[in-house]
Amino acid sequence: MRCVKCREPAVLEIRRHNAAFCAPHFLDFFTSQVERAIQEMRMFDKTDRILVAVSGGKDSLSLWDVLLRLGYQASGLYIHLGIGEYSERSKEKVLLFARKHEADLLIVDLPAEYGMNVEEMAKRSHRVPCSACGLSKRYLFNKVALDHGFDVVATAHNLDDEAAVLLGNLIHWQVEFLARQSPVLESTHPKLVKKVKPLYRLSERETAAYAVLRGIDYIVEECPNSVGARSLLYKEALNFLEAKAPGTKQSLYWGFLEQRKVIAGSILSPAGDGNKASLRECIHCGQPTTAEICAFCRMTEKAMEKMRTIRVGPAKLGSRQE
Ligand code: AMP
Ligand code: FES
Ligand code: ZN
Ligand code: ZN
Repeated sequence: MRCVKCREPAVLEIRRHNAAFCAPHFLDFFTSQVERAIQEMRMFDKTDRILVAVSGGKDSLSLWDVLLRLGYQASGLYIHLGIGEYSERSKEKVLLFARKHEADLLIVDLPAEYGMNVEEMAKRSHRVPCSACGLSKRYLFNKVALDHGFDVVATAHNLDDEAAVLLGNLIHWQVEFLARQSPVLESTHPKLVKKVKPLYRLSERETAAYAVLRGIDYIVEECPNSVGARSLLYKEALNFLEAKAPGTKQSLYWGFLEQRKVIAGSILSPAGDGNKASLRECIHCGQPTTAEICAFCRMTEKAMEKMRTIRVGPAKLGSRQE
């Protein structure tokens, strides 16, 4: 297998593009795909301050790396969720990257700020950990960006992530989610910061290859709470199809993005475009929400209430244990 650009031995074959690249030409390919996503989708430019949400994994550290190499003003945001050793190790990877690149990094410590980790928060508010985690992350991305004057939040969702989410949304016909699924979510309220996904043109395998070739030290293990997640099942199914028919994921997701404009006027509109739903400020924290109190405040209040009622002495017979 030879590089399609220089005929040197290739390090990676990209079957969906009918191509193979040597290391330097793969890095060029990766970088140009990110630039293309940024330009075509009008994500941001060199004057914008970008907050990159970094988990310590291959995707988010590769995204931060490529944006810095391209000369964008990219600061990192790490949310310490308090998921035992996994969180400690992932934080280390983020700190290591920031130090090595002398990059600006912000850290939010969820247990320190809210008195409990994401698993306790989930338990006390009767949610599954991934739901409490997703809600906390979305809330904090926006809040930190707003508080620190960033123009846009960039997450590292790749083609595999987006295709799996799309498959899930289609299987369950979640029309409102379909309407909102996009590599760019514009700000529709003064307190809602624009969100972008510059890696949507690249697969998980390609972000892993980029990280390795760039010498990025990332956390390989997945979050322990992700075991058995539906999204992993959809990814597996798509990987099966991709192996038999290269280009399946790209065709599914990119095709959706093209058709989106067409179907937006028909099936998507009647259910209401979630992003355009009328927003107001949460009466507790001031963040944008469609309700009186935002979902994050509702969750934390419920969890705090439970925390206050936790029994410290011995329980009386017949009384309810928390
Ligand atoms: P996930 O919800 O775990 O699929 O992550 C989606 C995106 O959120 C990732 O691509 C990262 O950009 C970002 N992210 C995930 N975990 C964290 C974290 N602990 N702190 C900051 N950003 C994160
Ligand atoms: Fe959120 Fe695992 S990263 S629950
Ligand atoms: Zn080459
Ligand atoms: Zn709130």
